[in-house]
Amino acid sequence: MRSVITGTGIGVPPHVITNEALSRLMDTSDEWIRVRSGIQERRYAELGQGSTDLGVIASRNAIADAGLAPGDMDAVIFATMTPDHVLPGNGPLLQTALGLGDIPTFDIRQQCSGFLYGLELADLFIQSGRYRRVLLVGAEVHTAFMPWHLGWDTLIGQSTREITEAERAENTLSRDRTVLFGDGAGAVVIEAREGEAGLGTIRLHTDGAGAGVLTMTGASFKRRPFVTVEQIQAGETVPVMSGKEVFKSAVTLMPQSVREVCAASGLAVEDLDLVLVHQANLRIIEGVQKALGLPPEKVPHNIERYGNTTAATLPILFHECRQQGLVRPGMNLVFTALGSGLHWGAALYRT
Ligand code: ACO
Repeated sequence: MRSVITGTGIGVPPHVITNEALSRLMDTSDEWIRVRSGIQERRYAELGQGSTDLGVIASRNAIADAGLAPGDMDAVIFATMTPDHVLPGNGPLLQTALGLGDIPTFDIRQQCSGFLYGLELADLFIQSGRYRRVLLVGAEVHTAFMPWHLGWDTLIGQSTREITEAERAENTLSRDRTVLFGDGAGAVVIEAREGEAGLGTIRLHTDGAGAGVLTMTGASFKRRPFVTVEQIQAGETVPVMSGKEVFKSAVTLMPQSVREVCAASGLAVEDLDLVLVHQANLRIIEGVQKALGLPPEKVPHNIERYGNTTAATLPILFHECRQQGLVRPGMNLVFTALGSGLHWGAALYRT
């Protein structure tokens, strides 16, 4: 029995935010963002639109793409680091919004590796015979992290007001992170099927010693109360990131994981037809491609248009590759990711 992706869908919000638009809010430039990250634009959710809402759109599209109805799903895995609420998770909210019926939902939080960890769980559910059809969703609304008390109106074209120097200075404090992230969702339907196609070797890793390189210290249940105005004013509800540390780990550990799944499956890296890399930075994606010695066309990317959508990057990229005809039957494809945790790994998928 194999776990086969039979449907894919995406849900991306309406506001397209260019680098130039961000440079009106803070000291940054289109050139800096393009050269350092490859990002040209990203999508921002409407005010009041959460990661469940985007996940619902993506899931509806994926279920229809699989030729199924919402009532056909046996279980849901929802990966996000930006849930609508601290409790409950997005799973039950999505279940009700889609009318999935009385099926179990699992909320997981492995940040940029969330989709990869979700593939492992879905595969184990299917291999065990427990569930035959699993809906796996990765969705994020990062904009709530962005500490722009004022400026949203300008950004989405609803005001021509110039922001003040004080606002600009405040927005600039988090520019190394805020320019990298966007909102979006991707979903896949994974079904039990006989045959050659489906998920193969998956290797996952965690190193909690690296937890501090990408973390959010505010809004913590170690505090009383867990969030205060002072924490927000001190910028503690914005994730902190040692960009260079994450970069180095990403260009080392993702190629290592890809080699690991190849070795365990009796494949050479050259046998891979496509490697889908978590979309955090174009320089990281190109670094992974070069470390593996693969030609650029085998490592596609869409970070230019979406930025880093954390748990959503891999399902969005896979969906777009399918749409562009890049995914053909009989291919060896690998998904790989690394993110906060640190969590990383790779999953082989035979199309
Ligand atoms: N606009 C203009 N200048 C900026 C900006 C900005 N948005 N951000 C930082 N700078 C400045 C810095 O202040 C610094 O200035 P200085 O030299 O005067 O001190 C200069 O640009 C260079 O900054 P660096 O941090 O050295 O830039 P670097 O080339 O390392 O790129 C980046 C930074 C893009 C963050 C990179 O390190 C990176 O992508 N790291 C990995 C991030 C990642 O992969 N995250 C994924 C995990 S996400 C998850 O798990 C949720």
